[in-house]
Amino acid sequence: MTLKKYNQGMSKIHLSPYEIILKKRNGGNLSELEIDFMVRGFNECAIPPYQFSSFLMAVFFRGMSEDEIFSLTKSMMNSGEVLSLSEISKYTVDKHSTGGVGDKVSIILAPLAAAGGVTVPMMCGRSLGHTGGTLDKLESIRGFRTNLSKKDFFRNLKKSKVAMMGQTEKIAPADKKIYALRDITATVDSIPLIAASIMSKKLAEGAKALLLDVKTGNGAFIKDIGDSEKLARLMVKIAKKMKRKCTAVITDMNQPLGYAIGNSLEIKECIETLHDRGPEDLKSLCVEFAAHMFLLGKKTKSIQAGKILALRLIKDGSAFRKLCEMAKNQGGDVKSLENPSLLPSAKYICRLKSAGKGYIKGINTHEIGLTAVMIGAGRKDLSSKIDPGAGIMLHKKIGDFTEKGEPLATIYTSRKNLTGYAKERLLDSFSISKTVPAKQKLIHRIIR
Ligand code: URA
Repeated sequence: MTLKKYNQGMSKIHLSPYEIILKKRNGGNLSELEIDFMVRGFNECAIPPYQFSSFLMAVFFRGMSEDEIFSLTKSMMNSGEVLSLSEISKYTVDKHSTGGVGDKVSIILAPLAAAGGVTVPMMCGRSLGHTGGTLDKLESIRGFRTNLSKKDFFRNLKKSKVAMMGQTEKIAPADKKIYALRDITATVDSIPLIAASIMSKKLAEGAKALLLDVKTGNGAFIKDIGDSEKLARLMVKIAKKMKRKCTAVITDMNQPLGYAIGNSLEIKECIETLHDRGPEDLKSLCVEFAAHMFLLGKKTKSIQAGKILALRLIKDGSAFRKLCEMAKNQGGDVKSLENPSLLPSAKYICRLKSAGKGYIKGINTHEIGLTAVMIGAGRKDLSSKIDPGAGIMLHKKIGDFTEKGEPLATIYTSRKNLTGYAKERLLDSFSISKTVPAKQKLIHRIIR
């Protein structure tokens, strides 16, 4: 529908993008109709990007009321197909993270929750800015297809209770277009825009319940804990209004999660974790999240019971077997999961040694993420290709002691010319102190 027709359809009401932008710029509250008019107009190319950018900037500075955010979410959700998964299962539970460095939780959690009987229809994203993307990580398993048809997605869910794929063109297309514009107009880190972006696609994907991992800290998009809490509460409210169950967990991103950063390195760490040999922070977050998913999916009656179930499914190998089953369904090379040395690896490996002696007091996680992108683990722009074997393996995290000359990290890359600069950037990302720093909290808050 063109904007003109939309305007005509609105009986005698005539809306103007200019007047709506002006109203928001002056701090006014927009009606559901005005917001829908802007979203549809931009999605259908009737409102040009320069006007929509101005609208986004007005929202960035003036914010939005809860009603406005809800209207924005609904318009974006209804811009494409809204799936119903009721033919697959009564209790479908999806999980979404706001994005972090070394955040590989979904790849462990989806098969773990499915092994416990929850149906997990997971639509995931690609790397964004300094953060990695689940789709890119999965694609480092040779042959793994993330562009499933709806028919294959549904078939795999019925057969194995788990499927992981990319957002289709038909799901919340307005979010895709608006996100691309936000990315180049400095309007990403806005709470109303993030909430509407995440919730519009998650609601359109049709899961009955949703677990949200809201990252906070120097490696997250939202760095301040108060703002992260606002975002989490807002998303839970939106879900409730749309009659979906939702739990949001605010988790720490002041250092990478686990030790591996980069696609195949992270798959190896996921395999280790599913064999119960993974890093403690990663394992405990996955177990906590699985317990929430079991509760949301009515598989257990308490978080404690869910944690016990999750630990058992890791220990007896069911969760790892489920990962292999999902990979097989989606064309992935299962042999490389059974023998991770077959996963892609980078040509050059070099060690970063500590310049001083003491305790690791802080890690600039954003810088580590950007360094990983630079050496090939992420995309600098839409056209760049990811090197699946590139990345960084940390050897020390906050609170660890290091001697001078001890390895802090190992760099994996196929771009030898960048190793010197990568080492410099990484070295600057660690701060060392003579005193033992306070213990890092992994889970800050849980909002139901
Ligand atoms: N992830 C999203 O899907 N949208 C945002 O706006 C930010 C992170």
